[in-house]
Amino acid sequence: MKGTSRLRRMASFGMMAVLALTLAACEQSHPNTTFTPHSDYGRAIDFLWDRLLLLGSIVFVFVEVGILYIVFRYRKREGDERPPQTHGNVVIEIFWTLIPAFILLFIAVPTVRTIFKTQAKAVAGALQIEVIGHQWWWEFRYPEYGIITANEIYIPTGRTVNFKLTSNDVIHSFWTPQLGGKRDAVTNRTNFMWYTPDSTLPPSEWNGFCTEYCGTSHGKMRFRVFTVKPDQFASWVANQQRPAAIGAVAPAKGAPATNAPSTAVAYSFPRNQPAFDYAVPHTPVPEGMTFTRGLTGNAHRGQQVFSSNACIGCHAIAGNPAAVGNIGPNLTHFGSRATIGAGSFPNTPAYLALWIKNARVMKPGIIMPTLGKDQFDPVLKTKVTAGGLDDQQIADIVAYLWALK
Ligand code: CUA
Repeated sequence: MKGTSRLRRMASFGMMAVLALTLAACEQSHPNTTFTPHSDYGRAIDFLWDRLLLLGSIVFVFVEVGILYIVFRYRKREGDERPPQTHGNVVIEIFWTLIPAFILLFIAVPTVRTIFKTQAKAVAGALQIEVIGHQWWWEFRYPEYGIITANEIYIPTGRTVNFKLTSNDVIHSFWTPQLGGKRDAVTNRTNFMWYTPDSTLPPSEWNGFCTEYCGTSHGKMRFRVFTVKPDQFASWVANQQRPAAIGAVAPAKGAPATNAPSTAVAYSFPRNQPAFDYAVPHTPVPEGMTFTRGLTGNAHRGQQVFSSNACIGCHAIAGNPAAVGNIGPNLTHFGSRATIGAGSFPNTPAYLALWIKNARVMKPGIIMPTLGKDQFDPVLKTKVTAGGLDDQQIADIVAYLWALK
């Protein structure tokens, strides 16, 4: 009786586990999966994976069944004599050499074919995008259109994109799981990678990552890919080509909604943000970081503060002749971006204000200096005093950057 109930308990537990696993497989939201490819490149890799998994599974089952059969069939029994001892069998050895060689052939052919396919030159007429890895952010250049941006790429569906990958410092690796990758970005070598986002895709937003460990904030070296319809891409390009100006309107009507709102400036932090968009980063605000509530930024004043401080030493803004630095991300049309700190935080005034105040606390190891007055700089191990920005000045810079749609 006791044994039966235990068995029943174990059976129901086992069934629950199977049910949980099955239901987990039904969950549709896997933003970083490679198993639902949306490009030709992604599908080539996915096909190869499926093929290798199938062949590997067949070999695994065959070997395991064989082992179990032999273990049980030829186990030692009461009264067994010592079996005849043999050494070597040419026929068997030839077979067990030939069979794996034959299996490897079935693996090698599609593998080599996929390598050649994905390493081939991109088709003529592909959209060229230069990708430059930096510790820890991505610079993107569209030479054809004269656009320089950072951490966000817009690409039209149905057109092949050819990425030209290099690095400014250490080795990084470029990866958009649902579209394609990975490929390294190296300093002394130019790598190429192309893919064609499916023409059937609705306007979508995809996560991108650095997938080669590259230092302290490697985990915060992310980016976004926006796949948009060709006409939306054209309007995005047209807007990007214009110098950024305070009060200009946002581009690409109908493009995927980013979480960068266009008006109100609210300095509050939703500790538990609703997951309305998988691409919104949920990095927590470091403990102890605060910002004066109720301040209103002035974009024109912000432009003056920006243009007369350290900002212009590192950042360029087309349309602001004072801002020509090229060490940090180009901030032209910053107001239309979805995230800050290379996908570390949502681009909201609240996060941006803290970022300007003390970026080195928000993202360890970065070059961007601590700018807030009385803030502790974790790299220089000193407090910022003379020349530090107060919260009102930062609010003004936020208003300015946000106005650059
Ligand atoms: Cu760049 Cu990891």
